[in-house]
Amino acid sequence: MVGTVITEAELKERLGKLPRVSLGALPTPLEPLPRISELLGVQVFIKRDDLTGLAFGGNKTRHLEFSLGQALHEGYDVIVNGAAVQSNYCRQTAAACAKFGLKCALVLRRLPEVEAIKVEPQGNLLLDYLFGADVRFIEPDEDLELAKERVAEEYRSKGHKPFVIRHPDISGGFGYLVCLLEIVEQCREMGFEPTHIIHSSSTPTQSGFVVGTKALGLNWKVIGVAPSDRDGVTQRIAEVSNLVAEKLGLSIKVTPSDVIFTTAFVGEGYGIPTPEGIEAMKLMARLEGIVLDPVYTAKAFAAIIAMAKNGQLTKEHKVIFVHTGGTPALFAYQPVLVEALELSRL
Ligand SMILES: Cc1ncc(COP(=O)(O)O)c(C=O)c1O
Repeated sequence: MVGTVITEAELKERLGKLPRVSLGALPTPLEPLPRISELLGVQVFIKRDDLTGLAFGGNKTRHLEFSLGQALHEGYDVIVNGAAVQSNYCRQTAAACAKFGLKCALVLRRLPEVEAIKVEPQGNLLLDYLFGADVRFIEPDEDLELAKERVAEEYRSKGHKPFVIRHPDISGGFGYLVCLLEIVEQCREMGFEPTHIIHSSSTPTQSGFVVGTKALGLNWKVIGVAPSDRDGVTQRIAEVSNLVAEKLGLSIKVTPSDVIFTTAFVGEGYGIPTPEGIEAMKLMARLEGIVLDPVYTAKAFAAIIAMAKNGQLTKEHKVIFVHTGGTPALFAYQPVLVEALELSRL
């Protein structure tokens, strides 16, 4: 990594030039997790991005502030997004569109291997319908980006101007620069310097943290924990980070070797809960009264537990766990949780 360090004020000023709408209850709280810290022997703090405020919260509130900002600025009237059937991004996109009077079309990919979530509208999918989205389904092997383009074309042919949110979405990089700036300020107020920022990411969220720490010259280890076992993500995070930096005129260059990203906690695959993730959910719920989701945040927190157990994290470390949200999906996983909590005996 090369480049010149800039100040927080300069970074804020550059971000301030991008089109943006207000969707979130920001800044989200940064809080200690005293009972978890005691148990793990590591000082752990939580950045509550599950409380970003839009439709049950989550990290996509921050992404959407910039993508919808651009769409509204450029006069689009339909937003097309798509992902897996229990997508948090789609749920929050539908809510944000409702708020701004935009039509929302969602392309949702079925995940046949996840028995619990293909059954019926529940969790995020139920909310997509509640927010009035035009919901379409595709099969697991269909190309999502092409399907989104087909839906956009359909709207175009009816005289609309659709804005397609393409993945990876660099607006998430801007969103997580904003989050990093909040963390910097909150740490200063709370009087501590973190050693690690650990979070679930599939690219955009981590790219914001990578760009922000490098641009501000912070020596914090940013560790992304994958929700799925895809190849080439480290490379992609570096590419998106460079696009974000370029757009903001930052003179930094990120290479894949700058990115710490692990797929070790995915388990059998995307959307399939792991025993370690379920344990992490139980721990967070029972020691701190905080809900994690089984697809993203439980796996990310399982990484912190494992790192504390194997000595990679010690009492010298101050770890910020970023809770990226996803909690409505919990209800789509009711059968899995009933089994894990041994409720079937009721
Ligand atoms: C709850 C949650 N955490 C983390 C992520 C990953 O975020 P990103 O794709 O911005 O890296 C997602 C993405 O859908 C999510 O829904």
